Amino acid sequence: AAGGGGSGPQARAAVPNYALFSERLALARATVLENRPLTLAQKILYAHLHDVSSMTRAPVAGETYLKLSPDRVAMQDASAQMAILQFMLSGMAQTAVPTSIHCDHLVEAHAGGDADVARSWQTSREIYEFLQAASRKYGIAFWRPGSGIIHQLVLENYAAPGTLMLGTDSHTPNGGGLGMLAIGVGGADAVDAMAGIPWELKAPRVMGVRLRGRLAPWASPKDVILAVAGRLTVRGGTGFVVEYFGDGVAALSGTGMATICNMGAEVGATTSVFPYGAPMARYLRATQRGAIADAADAQHALLRADAEVAADPARYYDEVVDIDLAALEPAYNGPFTPDLRTPRSLMADAVAREGWPDRVSAALIGSCTNSSYQDLSRAAELARQAAARGLRVAEGTELLVSPGSEQIRATMQRDGIQAAFEAVGARVLANACGPCIGQWKRDAVQGPNTIVSSFNRNFRARNDGNADTLNFLASPDMVMAAALSGRLSFDPARDSLRAADGAEFRLDPPQGAELPAAGYAAGRAEYRPLLAHEPEAAVPIAPTSTRLQPLAAFAPWDGRELADTRVLVTVQGKCTTDHISAAGKWLKYKGHLENLARNTLIGAANAALGGRVNHVINAVPGLEPAEGTIPDVARAYRAAGVPWLVVADYNYGEGSAREHAAMQPRFLGCTAVVARSFARIHETNLKKQGVLPLVFARPEEDYHVFADAPHELVVRTEGVVGLCAERPVVHLLVDRVRDGVQVAHHRIECRHTMSADQIAWFKAGSALNLIASQQQQ
Ligand code: F3S
Repeated sequence: AAGGGGSGPQARAAVPNYALFSERLALARATVLENRPLTLAQKILYAHLHDVSSMTRAPVAGETYLKLSPDRVAMQDASAQMAILQFMLSGMAQTAVPTSIHCDHLVEAHAGGDADVARSWQTSREIYEFLQAASRKYGIAFWRPGSGIIHQLVLENYAAPGTLMLGTDSHTPNGGGLGMLAIGVGGADAVDAMAGIPWELKAPRVMGVRLRGRLAPWASPKDVILAVAGRLTVRGGTGFVVEYFGDGVAALSGTGMATICNMGAEVGATTSVFPYGAPMARYLRATQRGAIADAADAQHALLRADAEVAADPARYYDEVVDIDLAALEPAYNGPFTPDLRTPRSLMADAVAREGWPDRVSAALIGSCTNSSYQDLSRAAELARQAAARGLRVAEGTELLVSPGSEQIRATMQRDGIQAAFEAVGARVLANACGPCIGQWKRDAVQGPNTIVSSFNRNFRARNDGNADTLNFLASPDMVMAAALSGRLSFDPARDSLRAADGAEFRLDPPQGAELPAAGYAAGRAEYRPLLAHEPEAAVPIAPTSTRLQPLAAFAPWDGRELADTRVLVTVQGKCTTDHISAAGKWLKYKGHLENLARNTLIGAANAALGGRVNHVINAVPGLEPAEGTIPDVARAYRAAGVPWLVVADYNYGEGSAREHAAMQPRFLGCTAVVARSFARIHETNLKKQGVLPLVFARPEEDYHVFADAPHELVVRTEGVVGLCAERPVVHLLVDRVRDGVQVAHHRIECRHTMSADQIAWFKAGSALNLIASQQQQ
């Protein structure tokens, strides 16, 4: 792999192939980019074009889809399940690019550390064993529960400047702290990269964020991103890669840059990235990757924006935002949304004005966002100041620490950081997501209460399931200050704490260390990754499992026109991937398609029944149920071998890349979706799963044919035989049959957007079927 991967599972990234990146970039510049100056994000993307020669003109941001070859894939245990089940269908003996799986989401925080990891083995053993067996078979690095949180482990081991990584988690952009373009995606995208299928991304716009000066003593990198979020709001980064530049960059640590990139997800950005420089080199060397630092040092020009961009940012970035680091005050963002920013000095007023509970019931430090050595050593130094005065965390306040990895935990223990936390009453949790993802068995806190965390998200009920818990996001320093004072309104720069002897004192600004002077401790051997590759290994799934089910390959196209096809539902109005495949309580079935498919289209409104949600009339006389929920009728069709299609309104499948939204209908027997228009990613997902996506040539008129009593319609096609990219037309021949008598006939023209490759997916039954057949040849 260009990312320096080579084959087989890796404990650490190899040195990226910078010569190849340069060569590809030079070719792209000379052929389609008209030699124009490029931002760093553009350089990384264009250095990863799958096939420059297939591009005929310069990509247009926000319009052109780039076909890319990522260097690496990382997955967490919740989203990896369906990705692996799909990959198993490819027939490949190993992943096309180095891949890792990180068990971090399924550990519930309660007693702390090892006890919680042990309990997660009881509740999620079958998931862990499945992922571990699949990792062994396909040569994926497997990181057991307790080894750490995906993004921290990627930063410590796999991030490398200038590379392109996909991760099946929103905060994958954390890797931007080491100059990589790390993008959060759904499982289907990860499978593309793992199977060597070019991965598509709409060419993003690039927002330049210029950092000037140096942070003031109490301010930290977290405060930079809290300010950016406050400025841009939760949607302000949508469609952008956020690229940092300016003289302020050099004064940040590599891990601080990762914190900033991590939370770029909260402004909706595709990803965020920093230019390569000395802080990254220091971190790479401290984490045993000196060879990558050496190679990157020799590539300074490649790993930052072109000089013309730096000289005139307003001309080359699509937008420029300025942040004066010296003027940044620490802040709290929240409650309930990460973009509601209140600077520390205004917090007491805000608490009084808004009626937020001032008492802090829990203070949480760590997570993938903020558990670097610098973060923890600064917070520990505040704890030491308090302990020296005989102070512990405030009465009624719980202080919890989630280390990002075993390496961080072991280093923190060796260097007395853990002891400093425990001296003030903190409890150290497992190296896992825990409370950040709601895996928090919280004891008896009900009703409105305030928590402060150094996490990245604070949607209602995210952390403890209590919709009345107000979560404020802040730096680890501010979280520690809140824990010691027990008050949200406490301003450590202005307010005093009371020592055990009754004397008042102020905390001095925290002093921390960017990196451990004695290097990182390796931690316990059992938390090192498993790196086996045994292609003959079995991947057992219990036939009685309700959470995992092997996928069966979808049937290939039978070579004939669609015939005798029923319209399951004509969807009215908005139909997102959430309407097609709901989340919430269904998430536990992510690895079990049969069980998950019971939620198929349950959010869809039926145009024929005045918008009634999740209710349809069975189109096959005599088949039970005569009417019922959409998944129930779909399952009846499947059982009876009745092919069916969905007719949809505008922008069908908007929302997310969730592949289940395409797999579930396909699993239940859907052959085609005919829409007024599609959300592009979902349309592609349908193609990948072998469903025919068609759009009406006359969307206004023809949709209405299906809005009236669709259960009377029987559909055939003309043009599926001979399907080709050059003449993208398929006709629907629609008979309206009432009481056994044909009362109307329509010939409706539709278009498709399938390329020759995608037509081959359709014919094979799915993209993975095609890969599987190529493997056999
Ligand atoms: Fe885990 Fe929270 Fe990060 S859920 S991956 S620690 S955002």
